Amino acid sequence: MDDTKLFPQLKETVCLKPMAGYALAHGHHPSQIQMLDPSHAFFLSLCDKGLLPPQIAFIYGQTFGLKDVDAHSQIDQLLSKYRHFLNFDTTPVPRERFSPQEFLYRADPSALDLATFGKWPVPAGISITLTFSCNFRCSYCYQDNRQRSDRRWSLSKCLELLDEAADWGVVFAGFTGGEPTIFNGWLELLERTLTRGMIPVFTSNGTVIGTDPDIALRLKDAGMEEVTISLDVCSPELHDQVTRTSGHFPKVVDAIRFLRAAGIRVLIKSVLTPMTQHAVQETIDFLVDLGVGGIGISYMESGAINSAANCAPNVTPEELSRVRDRIEQKREQYSHLCNIEPPEDANKLWTETDWYPCGGMISGMSIFPSGDVSVCDKMHGVKAFTLGNVFDAGLKEIWNSDAFARLCERATDPEVVDSDCAICSKLHLCRTSCFVDSFNVTGSYFGKDPSCGGPFLN
Ligand SMILES: C[S@@+](CC[C@H](N)C(=O)[O-])C[C@H]1O[C@@H](n2cnc3c(N)ncnc32)[C@H](O)[C@@H]1O
Ligand code: SF4
Ligand code: SF4
Repeated sequence: MDDTKLFPQLKETVCLKPMAGYALAHGHHPSQIQMLDPSHAFFLSLCDKGLLPPQIAFIYGQTFGLKDVDAHSQIDQLLSKYRHFLNFDTTPVPRERFSPQEFLYRADPSALDLATFGKWPVPAGISITLTFSCNFRCSYCYQDNRQRSDRRWSLSKCLELLDEAADWGVVFAGFTGGEPTIFNGWLELLERTLTRGMIPVFTSNGTVIGTDPDIALRLKDAGMEEVTISLDVCSPELHDQVTRTSGHFPKVVDAIRFLRAAGIRVLIKSVLTPMTQHAVQETIDFLVDLGVGGIGISYMESGAINSAANCAPNVTPEELSRVRDRIEQKREQYSHLCNIEPPEDANKLWTETDWYPCGGMISGMSIFPSGDVSVCDKMHGVKAFTLGNVFDAGLKEIWNSDAFARLCERATDPEVVDSDCAICSKLHLCRTSCFVDSFNVTGSYFGKDPSCGGPFLN
């Protein structure tokens, strides 16, 4: 059907947020966030009022003083550029989710440029490692839980960090660990995140949530829509082996049940290991039966220095390929019930067209119980990647400090980076990508990312 006869609607899951000199469009996960020119957010805000594209073009043209023909051509381009945020309907659905007036301010092109080649003016998200402690000892864990917390690390300090992040315009607040539910006050932190209008990103092993159905109800009351629970297997015996503990499996299953009963969407994160690969189809059946909304199965990544992940056996390329096929079958079988994500093919190297570097360093901050702020959850204690400490300075000050600029210089210095990266045309956007994976393979944080098939010379 002719697009001019369809009513574009901003997807229910997409939010728009005005920022200084730019705007944000985002979903419920940090991977779904995009910086926009405010006028583009203005356009998206008009895609919810039951207007046809020619009517949107009229309003857009009048607002920005454009000739008719230019307004129509710009709206055509914007419809195509932001298609992933839109649905199209044949009947109008007049409703107002975002006020177009909120996006009538001048863009600051330097903010958008800086975000591409430097860092975001305000991080899209912060990730707080609430504690290094954990009641599990998962065979594959990427964290080094022998690290120390500062004695000043407390609930009040974490609440202060959340308030500071919210005032600054941060969208996502992640809570991880160790096991975050072991930290006294974790529920209050989620509540504060929600009352301050940020989106919590929360992953837990489920053992505390599974002890009391009231926890899930309290989360629901606070407005929590989604929780991620880590579970790799569907039998108590295997769960004991993977987590190197005893008897916790029923609590994890109860956590899923309690959250579902409270009306919270449950996502599952599973890690593929030689121990769990044979049970993957049964595990998917079991989880779908429990009513989970999504299952993300990942290949075991390398981890922090001294983490279990770096000494654990991994699946072979052939095994991975076979398991991916089995997961693919289940994905099709359950496509109407649950979103199943198979692990990426770890042996496929990036090409020029599917190159996808880590953007963590430029759009997020990882804060640890020592107070240190780093570019990644796996890099506590790595001095060269520590940008500051929250007991000495505020988040904003740390983000804008010289430490970031110095690190960025090193990550793009041909004298420092791998010789392939030094000649690669993508270096200033890529900064050699995953520092941890590079370190674990090459012994240098600025080695070429092991997933990369570069250098790319165009
Ligand atoms: C480090 S844990 C911390 C939160 C909590 N203790 C949990 O397990 O959910 C965060 C997530 O990372 C995943 N994870 C841990 N080690 C991993 C590895 N080596 N590769 C991929 N994912 C891993 C866990 O399964 C979990 O979903
Ligand atoms: S993956 Fe989570 S539950 Fe397992 S040891 Fe690591 S922090 Fe603990
Ligand atoms: S060669 Fe280096 S800089 Fe270029 S894309 Fe690969 S990892 Fe990034």
